[in-house]
Amino acid sequence: MSNLHIIDHPLVQHKMAMLRDKDLGTKDFRDLVNEITMFLGYEVTRDLPQEEVEIETPLMKTTQKVIAGKKLAIAPILRAGLGMVDGMLMLMPAAKVGHIGMYRDHESLEPQEYFFKMPNDISERQVIVVDPMLATGGSAMMAFDSLVKRGVDPKQIKFVCLVSCPEGVKALQENYPDIEIYTAALDEKLNEDAYILPGLGDAGDRLFGTL
Ligand code: URA
Repeated sequence: MSNLHIIDHPLVQHKMAMLRDKDLGTKDFRDLVNEITMFLGYEVTRDLPQEEVEIETPLMKTTQKVIAGKKLAIAPILRAGLGMVDGMLMLMPAAKVGHIGMYRDHESLEPQEYFFKMPNDISERQVIVVDPMLATGGSAMMAFDSLVKRGVDPKQIKFVCLVSCPEGVKALQENYPDIEIYTAALDEKLNEDAYILPGLGDAGDRLFGTL
C-alpha cells in the first residue's frame, strides 16, 4: 500500500487553485494555508488511538469513543512550515510545537539545518512534520534524520505538505518508506531551480510578504 495520501477533496482543490494564483495577497494566502492545513490535519489524525468512556446524556448512560490521549508534536520546518502551525493547532490544541530551522543554499540547492528545538519527550510523541512544499525532499529528510537521531521512530513521524512533486515523493519513499506523506496536490515536476511546477512559487515569501 502506498504511503502517499493525496487529499483531493473538492473543497481542498478549490482552495489550492486560489492559493496558486500569483495575484493572491499575503493575508488571503495565509488564511488559505491555514484552512487547507485543517483539511490535511483532519486526515493525518484519522488513525489516532481511541478509548471508550461512559457518558451520561440527558436521557441515558452511553459508551462513546474519545481520543486516547496520544502525545502529539507538530514540527514546522522553518520558515514556511510556520504557516501551517495554526491550522494544525486548531485541531490539536494540546499538541506541543517543535521547530526545525532549515534554509536552502541557493548555490548547492542543499538544505542546511541551523536550529532544532523539540519537546524533551519527543521520542515518546507522534511527530507531524509540516512544510508547505515537498520539492527535492532534502529538507524533509534532514528533518527526519534529526528526529530519528533524538530517538523518534520513523513510524511515529508523519509528513504534511500542501504541494508535492514526483521527485520529492520518490526521495522520501526511497529513504523513509515508513513515513506517511499527506499532500493536497501532486504537481508535475521540479524546474532547474528546484521550484515545483506549476506550484505556487516561494511559499515562505508568499506567507510572509517578503517577495
Ligand atoms: N520551496 C518553495 O517555496 N516553492 C517551491 O516551489 C519549492 C520549494
